[in-house]
Amino acid sequence: MNVDGKKYRTIWLAEDGGSVEIIDQTKFPYAFEIARLHTMEDAAHAIRVMQVRGAPLIGATAGYGVALAMRADPSDANLHAACSALLETRPTAVNLHWALDKARKSLIQVAPENRAAAAFTLANDICDEDIAINMSIGMHGMELIAAISRLKREGEPVNILTHCNAGWLATVDWGTATAPIYMSHDGGIPVHVWVDETRPRNQGAFLTAWELGHHGVPHTVIVDNAGGHLMQHGEVDIVITGTDRTTATGDVCNKIGTYLKALAAKDNNVPFYVALPSPTIDFSLSDGVSQIPIEERSGLEVSQMTGRTEAGAIETINIVADGSEVGNPAFDVTPARLVTGLITERGVLEPNRKSIADAFPERVKMS
Ligand code: MRU
Repeated sequence: MNVDGKKYRTIWLAEDGGSVEIIDQTKFPYAFEIARLHTMEDAAHAIRVMQVRGAPLIGATAGYGVALAMRADPSDANLHAACSALLETRPTAVNLHWALDKARKSLIQVAPENRAAAAFTLANDICDEDIAINMSIGMHGMELIAAISRLKREGEPVNILTHCNAGWLATVDWGTATAPIYMSHDGGIPVHVWVDETRPRNQGAFLTAWELGHHGVPHTVIVDNAGGHLMQHGEVDIVITGTDRTTATGDVCNKIGTYLKALAAKDNNVPFYVALPSPTIDFSLSDGVSQIPIEERSGLEVSQMTGRTEAGAIETINIVADGSEVGNPAFDVTPARLVTGLITERGVLEPNRKSIADAFPERVKMS
């Protein structure tokens, strides 16, 4: 994507050929800063503290993390150790497992002296594939938006609600949920996006709003509890979210609060779509609620808020009564019955085992 006239991915091989650069997402929306990863530990740290986040980007960063580890020590032992360490960084996004599995299986077959080069090539390939997948998701999703637009009066925007950030910052480029939005906007279809702020980390207010603003897409940030009200009043034409892990049966795990949006959408006959690349499908799982591990994050994310004062200083303040317990589950699961369709690189699928398996037979065979 373009930022101030320059084209960026969210992660790339640095010019020295042996380190990796990322856009540091902990600085948003106040600063656009690049950070450098020199070691596997740097990559693991970047995932853990959410300098990079979003399922596809977590997978891509893990790919580069393995490459950095192989540059330092290409032994079998270090390949396994690096994969295990990176796997521990975050529990819910399955793209992490997908990327590490791919790296481990292919690199173990490469002679140690060639492993670092092969690992960097693999990481670059994961990134290129992510972009191609998201562009394809964008084309399929744009058809859904165009169909809604055709039912509207000339110039009237399609109102899309999204939750969290499934934008280009959550991927290598384009985003999953945002790819159809960017392509529609670029193609002249009027769109307007309701952006859930997405407490506690504010990925909507900090990241999605920043992205949409830079791309010139009309949008409005709303509190997380506003979506149901807007749907009751006909202000939402379609919901499109991303996902961090989707089961073989179409249950969708995504940022906490997504489930409530799906319930409200069902009650108001608003179509609820999930945009996902195939590496986000976990073919080993059949029940999302009982089987997907949900990350429990620090209570400080709930009890504190960080923002910029009018004078420009970044400050953190407490917003919870002293002594109260806080809980912070980071994701929830929307059962397949509440999902209208899954927008994948191979088309819009019904959220059920057959439709998903028919679209990705090679992945079913591997699982
Ligand atoms: O905790 P995060 O910011 O890594 O979570 C990301 C999400 O939950 C996003 O909503 C996204 O849809 C999944 S990645 C495209």
